[in-house]
Amino acid sequence: MISSRLVVDRDFVISDLDRRVFGAFVEHMGRCVYTGIYEPGHPTADENGFRGDVMALTRELGPTIIRYPGGNFLSGYDWRDGVGPKSQRPRRLDLAWYSTETNQFGTNEFMQWSKAVGIEPMFGVNLGTGGPNEARHFIEYCNHPGGTQLSDLRHAHGHEKPHDIKFWCLGNEMDGPWQICRKTADEYGRAALETAKVLRMVDPTITLAACGSSNHDMATYGHWEATVLDHCFDEVDFISLHTYFENKLDSTEEFFGNIDVMDLFIKEIVAVADGVAARKHSTKKIMLSFDEWNVWYKSRSISDLRKPGWPEAPRLIEEVYNHEDALVNGGALITMMNNADRVKTACLAQLVNVIGPIMTEPGGPAWRQTIFHPFALTSRYAHGRVLKPVLTSPTYEAKTFPEISYLCASVVDDEASGRTAVFAINRHLTDEMDLKIELRGLGTERKLVECLELHHANMKATNTREAPDTVKPVNNPRLEIDGETLTVRLKPGSWNVIVTEASNRR
Ligand code: AHR
Repeated sequence: MISSRLVVDRDFVISDLDRRVFGAFVEHMGRCVYTGIYEPGHPTADENGFRGDVMALTRELGPTIIRYPGGNFLSGYDWRDGVGPKSQRPRRLDLAWYSTETNQFGTNEFMQWSKAVGIEPMFGVNLGTGGPNEARHFIEYCNHPGGTQLSDLRHAHGHEKPHDIKFWCLGNEMDGPWQICRKTADEYGRAALETAKVLRMVDPTITLAACGSSNHDMATYGHWEATVLDHCFDEVDFISLHTYFENKLDSTEEFFGNIDVMDLFIKEIVAVADGVAARKHSTKKIMLSFDEWNVWYKSRSISDLRKPGWPEAPRLIEEVYNHEDALVNGGALITMMNNADRVKTACLAQLVNVIGPIMTEPGGPAWRQTIFHPFALTSRYAHGRVLKPVLTSPTYEAKTFPEISYLCASVVDDEASGRTAVFAINRHLTDEMDLKIELRGLGTERKLVECLELHHANMKATNTREAPDTVKPVNNPRLEIDGETLTVRLKPGSWNVIVTEASNRR
């Protein structure tokens, strides 16, 4: 048994939580769109061809914003291919994923689907083969009310009202050698600046994100962000971060270090962005959009990424997630919440089939992967202000990060409802954790709302079509409430959420 302590105080606030950190990502890749969210003829499909079972699971997952249409796909995509009568839409080679894109699903379908599931859209403009001209035409088509050729074209396509898309990404991973029409930092910084200007000329109400590094290990990491922001600082609101966690050493303890590296990554990019601000004598704070993150390493071979013969909707990177992946993802959410002053949007990549929390079979069922659960419960219960957590916990040494605390935790408090949600991971693999939580100033007459644990004795346990509930949250009865103090026993290798409510807040 190990003992840990977590203290928060009502007055020590990191920031209001921007619920756009619970975003996801739909890319035209593999089976994310086709046979994922869109499958006309599926027994649950509606009149638009949207799978009803996937819509129901998406609502349960609780994403707030969804990025579309890519990803690497974006850098070769012409938005015009995906609008208008479906019978006239071209079939194209998708050079990002060596697939045939049928364009039967495009901007208007995504907007209809977004409304049906109740999420905000986050769109990208193509800065690979595309550029400012294509981008300004695209936003005019989407957001201009009417009276111009492109906005009237949207009307003719059945969408009288503007889509009013607020959040736009300026390209995708433009530093990556794999990217279609990759750019240097100077080339991209200039392109981002000029594209941002024309987009804002069409619609001054939008929010814009520039591409940061494709990952923390890129050779140009840090220098890329500084150079890009030197160019486009005045015109953008966000810089993006991407990360895919890997269990490179096949050690759960080492794998957990990814959570701490993510925290370092965030703090480094904040420092770089604020360094640019300092050089420009600006008080502007560039916010962080962690718009691709997930575990992804088991399905990374060339045969996972590319199938021969330019197939339609091939099975690409259909990672099967296990219990330890769910713990790392739960930790990533904790980390982003604890950096809520600067991380304002984030997207779990992706939503369905392609490294997705939701899996489907064409014509068959849909089910929840292990990583579904921490995301869904965090999105359900994290409302309000993130409080600064002060942790006292034993630690261990690892190669991925020098000192790792067994306790990983975050606290989100909602003044309006009097509810406080504690998210906690016990990273000890053999010992239970006795956790004492002090919720100072948050009310003494406290009752339990929910105390759930995600635990499995086998870190490699997975949810499959045949056994979809192998890893799922269950009630943890081992919680005691004594005024402002909660005492709870956490199983080894478990992710937990403890929600209580106080009736006597001052
Ligand atoms: O999410 C899969 C791919 O990973 C995305 O298309 C790309 O942006 C990243 O490299």
